[in-house]
Amino acid sequence: MKEWDKKHILGIKDLSKEELEAVFSLTHSFKEISQREVKKVPALRGKTIVNLFFENSTRTRISFELAAKRLSADVVNFSSTSSSLTKGETIIDTLKNLESYHPDIMIMRINSSACLELFTRYTQASIINAGDGRNEHPTQALLDMYTAREMKGKLEALKVVIVGDILHSRVARSNIFGFRKFSSSVTVCAPPTLIPYGFENMGVDICYDLDKVIDKADIIIFLRIQRERQEAVFFPNLREYVERFSLTPQRAEKLKKDCLVMHPGPVNWDIEISSSLKEKMHPLILKQAENGLAVRMAILYLVGTRKRQID
Ligand code: CP
Repeated sequence: MKEWDKKHILGIKDLSKEELEAVFSLTHSFKEISQREVKKVPALRGKTIVNLFFENSTRTRISFELAAKRLSADVVNFSSTSSSLTKGETIIDTLKNLESYHPDIMIMRINSSACLELFTRYTQASIINAGDGRNEHPTQALLDMYTAREMKGKLEALKVVIVGDILHSRVARSNIFGFRKFSSSVTVCAPPTLIPYGFENMGVDICYDLDKVIDKADIIIFLRIQRERQEAVFFPNLREYVERFSLTPQRAEKLKKDCLVMHPGPVNWDIEISSSLKEKMHPLILKQAENGLAVRMAILYLVGTRKRQID
């Protein structure tokens, strides 16, 4: 019998395999709530949750807001573009001001890497990482892993291939930490310029040729080319990238029959995945988004009712 004692969710790196299992088990229970006519339980009644997004988001922001509302918490949405940040107020002063309202949980997305640990010093609230720069996107990895487990029946001994902009990807890092905890193998595949130096120290295999690994993958996660984070040109042109790293109909024929093709979204069709495969590939990507809501309900519940028993 264990208790959930993590106050903050800053990364998958900090969570044990047992804690990940606890999240998945609770996610399974919370999925059922979204099927009900009245999609609400009183689990976090009286709690205040602030959704602080300093970077754009559709899936993560909306699903965290819905998750909080389905657990009956009071939710406030903060958008940097309509806040006093535009008048020169600092993020730390913003946090200190929000602290005056005694929030219980702050969900934060920000473009600076690994800054959330610092922010925990300025609030009594729990902080949940909704994506910090190139560091981690823990709830994305949780929903990816939950979806993989739902489809494959296990997370152990799988061959996971992550393709695309590894250099700028917090999703890649969180998934690597997560899948490695279940002893699955992870291969990252991209042009050499989009793989960070020393990345093999994370326990992954590195491959520069998608055609060499595509037929071995149990799960293949395509990542978006994050042009908004690229200060330099990392490959000659998009046409060449597509030729070498995109899932085209020809490449799709090499996939194992039961290979899961996943993408965190937003998808740039015809760059990461050919739009002619959309009808086949989109349902699983949308299932990932659906599972994201239940995963985020589980995380809010565990953090918001900390010290209760988890199994
Ligand atoms: N996958 C993901 O984080 O999507 P959003 O940027 O829309 O939240």
